[in-house]
Amino acid sequence: MILRPVSAPSFWRRRVVGWLAWLSLAAFGSGHALGAEAARPTPAPDPLYETRPGSFDGIGKWFLGREIAHFMTHQGAMWLERPEREEEEQPARLIEALKLKPGDVVADIGAGSGYLSWRMAKRVAPGGRVYGNDIQPEMLAILRTNVLAHGVTNVVTVQGTVLDPKLPPSSIDLAIFVDVYHECDHPYEFIQALCGALKPGGRLVFVEYRGEEPWIPIKALHKMTEAQVRKEMALHPLEWVETLHFLPRQHVIVFQRKA
Ligand SMILES: C[S@@+](CC[C@H](N)C(=O)[O-])C[C@H]1O[C@@H](n2cnc3c(N)ncnc32)[C@H](O)[C@@H]1O
Repeated sequence: MILRPVSAPSFWRRRVVGWLAWLSLAAFGSGHALGAEAARPTPAPDPLYETRPGSFDGIGKWFLGREIAHFMTHQGAMWLERPEREEEEQPARLIEALKLKPGDVVADIGAGSGYLSWRMAKRVAPGGRVYGNDIQPEMLAILRTNVLAHGVTNVVTVQGTVLDPKLPPSSIDLAIFVDVYHECDHPYEFIQALCGALKPGGRLVFVEYRGEEPWIPIKALHKMTEAQVRKEMALHPLEWVETLHFLPRQHVIVFQRKA
C-alpha cells in the first residue's frame, strides 16, 4: 500500500467539505427544531389571571394584560336587534365573507338573540346546522323565538358554561364570536375546550370592534385589538389565517385549528 502525502490544498478542501457537511446537518436539524418550536403553542401564564379592583365596565380580572368586560345580560337583547346594526355591522357582508356552504356545521358562540344564527343557518342549508350557543338560558329562549320567526329550523341551541361551550368533539367547521370574546370570563379554558370541538382545519373567527381606533363609539373594554386576540390565541393549537378589514367598525380575525 502506497501512502501518498496529503497536499496542503487537498487537506483544506477536505476540511472545508467536512465543515460544510456539518453545517448543513446542523441547519437541517435546527430547522426541524425551529419548525417544532413554531408549531407548539406559547405556554400559558402562571397564574393564568390577575385579579385586582377593576374598572366600571370590567370584572376586575385580567388576562395577558387585558381586563375582561362584564357580559351583556338578556335584558339587553333588544339592543342586539336594533335596526342601525344593519349599517353599523353589515351582517350580510360578514356572512358572505365567511364563505359558508350547505352542509357546514357552525357554532355561533355567545349567540345572544340569534341575530347571526338564523342568517348563517340559511347559508348552510340543506344538510348543515348552526349551534346557537350561550351561557344564558333566557337568551337562548329569545333566540329560539327569533329563529322560528324567520322560518329557520336548522339552529340547535346549546347552553354552555363559562369554561366550556359543551359542543360535540371534532364536529365544528366554523366557530364564530361576534362581539363576545372580550366578555368571556375564563377565556383560556373556554378556547381550550372549544378547540376540542373544532374539526382539524376548522375555522375560529372573532368579530370585534377595533380596539386600535379610539373614534369607534364603543366602550374600551368592549373592543379588542388584533394584536391582543392573536396573543391570546397563540396559547392554543390554532394558527392565524387572516384579518379582514372590510367592516366599518369591526375586524374579522380568522384562525384555523391545527391538524
Ligand atoms: C354582546 S352579546 C352578542 C350576541 C351576538 N353574538 C350578537 O352579535 O348579536 C354577548 C353574548 O355573549 C354571551 N356570552 C358571554 N360569555 C359567554 C361564554 N363564555 N360562552 C357563551 N356565551 C357567552 C352573553 O350571554 C351574550 O348573550
